[in-house]
Amino acid sequence: MTPSANKSKVPKILYSQSIVEQEFFNQFSAEPSIVVSSPGRINLIGEHTDYNNGFVLPAAIDKQMNIAISRRDDDELHFYAPDFRENFNGTVKNLTKSHKFWPNYINGVIKELIDRGFRIDGLNLVVGGDIPAGAGLSSSAALECSVVFALNEMYAFGLSKMDMVKIARAAENNFVGLQCGIMDMFASMFGKKDHAILLDCRSLKYEYIPLDFHQHAILLMDTRVKHSLATGEYNVRREQCEMGVRALRKIYPHVNSLRDANRAMIEYTLKDRVPDLIYTRCKYVVEENLRLQVGCEALRRNDLVGFGKKMYASHAGLSKLYDVSCPELDYLVDLAKDEHAIIGARMMGGGFGGCTINIIRKSYINEVVERMSKSFVGKFGQEPLAYICNISEGTHVVSGG
Ligand code: GLA
Repeated sequence: MTPSANKSKVPKILYSQSIVEQEFFNQFSAEPSIVVSSPGRINLIGEHTDYNNGFVLPAAIDKQMNIAISRRDDDELHFYAPDFRENFNGTVKNLTKSHKFWPNYINGVIKELIDRGFRIDGLNLVVGGDIPAGAGLSSSAALECSVVFALNEMYAFGLSKMDMVKIARAAENNFVGLQCGIMDMFASMFGKKDHAILLDCRSLKYEYIPLDFHQHAILLMDTRVKHSLATGEYNVRREQCEMGVRALRKIYPHVNSLRDANRAMIEYTLKDRVPDLIYTRCKYVVEENLRLQVGCEALRRNDLVGFGKKMYASHAGLSKLYDVSCPELDYLVDLAKDEHAIIGARMMGGGFGGCTINIIRKSYINEVVERMSKSFVGKFGQEPLAYICNISEGTHVVSGG
């Protein structure tokens, strides 16, 4: 469901699974061996905690990347993305980074598989979907997951879901160059309808938490400010956290990541030993891990109002301490605070643009979206997009296999 007020603003080109299959036939005059669908994700709370070995609470959504794929007899790679009307041609033996961004997610996965000793032949592949790129909904992780899942099925490699998550993440770290954590790939692969996943990024233990919002829905407000995480600030945050860990470890040798740190260590040990910037980054991470745990308790008790307060607190930390928000995101969260129908809101994902996530009473969606959009246009001259998310299944085969 999309709020009617904003229907016309939803991007038009939605390459559904069947259209991707049809495009495959048009390109290659044959049916694909397999079609795989992999979802984007939201994250309820626990931001920038995954690469600090902390906790996250993501869920897969009803927006997907779909790939249609089959093997070739030679070594050639022929990819097509109808969303961009772009082709990519290459070879398995010479996997190099492309200036078009999307083939890198596919080639990165192929490279990781080859590096692990799996043999891959040439491939024909078509990719399309309805996850808006650059909106913080992890379209890239969804693509990586769909590719590794499809290849595992086609070649019967026998990889577990967790193996595939690790390969997809390694593709992003090594080939694309973003030092992201495990959350996005994990959520895309392990998603479960109507459940969030509480993941401990240190042990990789996870638990499905039923999301029963009754009268409420999850509304994403997309600033349409495109973030480009790979170029810089994300990796800088990671390094700043590592600096904090190095300083703490001199005093507390058991601290291997910020997950092992507590508030007393941050306030009474770290604060005096590192520049203020490093202290505030680390403070945010330690507090966010605590917030997530208290927030999960509230969710389990069905105390949505209590959970919503934690969302607002998470945003304040991300904006003021971790400094990964932007004026557009801050403005949307401030607007949300004035809406009695919204019980919690915050920026979501890597930041620097993309979406806010809001928990909103269903019956007020249209009027709230209209009010917030109008105010946003008045301030920034551009209308935000609005999406209602349903919580969906993880990566799966659509046909073939
Ligand atoms: C991006 C990364 C994730 C995670 C989030 C912030 O989405 O890919 O690994 O770090 O940012 O929580």
